Amino acid sequence: RSLEVIATSPINIALVKYWGKVDEDYIIPWNSSLSITIDQNDLCSKTRIRLVQADESDEQIELILNGKKDKVTKRIMNVVNAIRERTEGVTIKQIRDGNQIETHFEKEELLKMKIMIESENNFATASGLASSSSGLSCLSFALAELFGVKESFEGEYSTFARLGSGSACRSLYGGFVQWHCGFSSRDQLDSLSKEELSRKSIAKQIDISSESMNYWLDNLQIAICCVKPEKDQGLTKEIPSTDGMKITIDTSELMRARLDCNLPQKHIEQLTMTLENRDFNSFAEITIKETNQLHAVCLDSYPPIFYINERTKKIIKQALKINKEKGKNIVAYSIDAGFHVFLFIMKEDKEFVLNEFKDLIENDMDRLIQTRIGREGVKIIKE
Ligand code: DP6
Repeated sequence: RSLEVIATSPINIALVKYWGKVDEDYIIPWNSSLSITIDQNDLCSKTRIRLVQADESDEQIELILNGKKDKVTKRIMNVVNAIRERTEGVTIKQIRDGNQIETHFEKEELLKMKIMIESENNFATASGLASSSSGLSCLSFALAELFGVKESFEGEYSTFARLGSGSACRSLYGGFVQWHCGFSSRDQLDSLSKEELSRKSIAKQIDISSESMNYWLDNLQIAICCVKPEKDQGLTKEIPSTDGMKITIDTSELMRARLDCNLPQKHIEQLTMTLENRDFNSFAEITIKETNQLHAVCLDSYPPIFYINERTKKIIKQALKINKEKGKNIVAYSIDAGFHVFLFIMKEDKEFVLNEFKDLIENDMDRLIQTRIGREGVKIIKE
């Protein structure tokens, strides 16, 4: 292969939310979270990275995002440095004139080369959906491959992605994924160094029986409601999640109660059980409560943070009305640090549910993306 790698990565949506960091540089979360990976045939990031000989005057790294030159942030540098530190050189095989030639690049040579990153999303601009989870997982995985870095412990790749953006570490895998915070009690947290915590804060696919997993893969449908912004609300969100979660951790007493009572962990255990039991009714209840709690701690922050708008509320109300009329949950919603809504529906109820949303789809959404769970996480498509 040449010194070029192309990877693609899906987005993921958290059912149990990550909100708040113990450490801002290492991106260690206050709580574990659980996500569902979205099918990357529908929504994905694609990243091409090349290593080229650099002139003295050249920048070390160049980033082109959706066709435009972009700033190489401190976080991207953290990912690059963590991977560069781990490389032991790479050997590439090329066919020239019918012969296979092997070329070896020593670590020192690799470190002198310029890194050219080109990344694009097949969705963000049109939909206003967040793309950091797919973008940073793609970038970190492609870089590790390019520098020939193999995992030295299970989940190490997810620690690279995490340095770029917390939620990105969950996009490495398909299906349902848990990001372990890295500690199980406050005492343990206090006793571990940042480096030790960082090695423990990894993402892993949720372990449920293959029958149950196949049930969800075959049946769970996802509809992404790209909600229209309100008059004075642009497509970009007002407070980036990084800043929002800091305000919440610093000021919200409700957030303290969420963490002191270990609610995220309880929700992860309950949700895992609903997955194993194929119990959509309870799956929906926990998913809905988690989203409500995220937005409740945002509102409890000072100054308060509002992500959802009036149109988002209409969608929430409609989902609750459908469930109430049915006498059981047939639709669940999840909302991140924005005003778009992810709806979860079982295949057999999809037509009925989407029909009930017909007016809202027409009047309150820019578009509705129909998709499903992604079986695969990040992957190399060319090396
Ligand atoms: C509401 O991963 O975007 O989507 O780690 O600062 O980059 P940083 O934050 P980010 O936060 C995601 C927050 C969330 C919940 C979640 O995905 O778990």
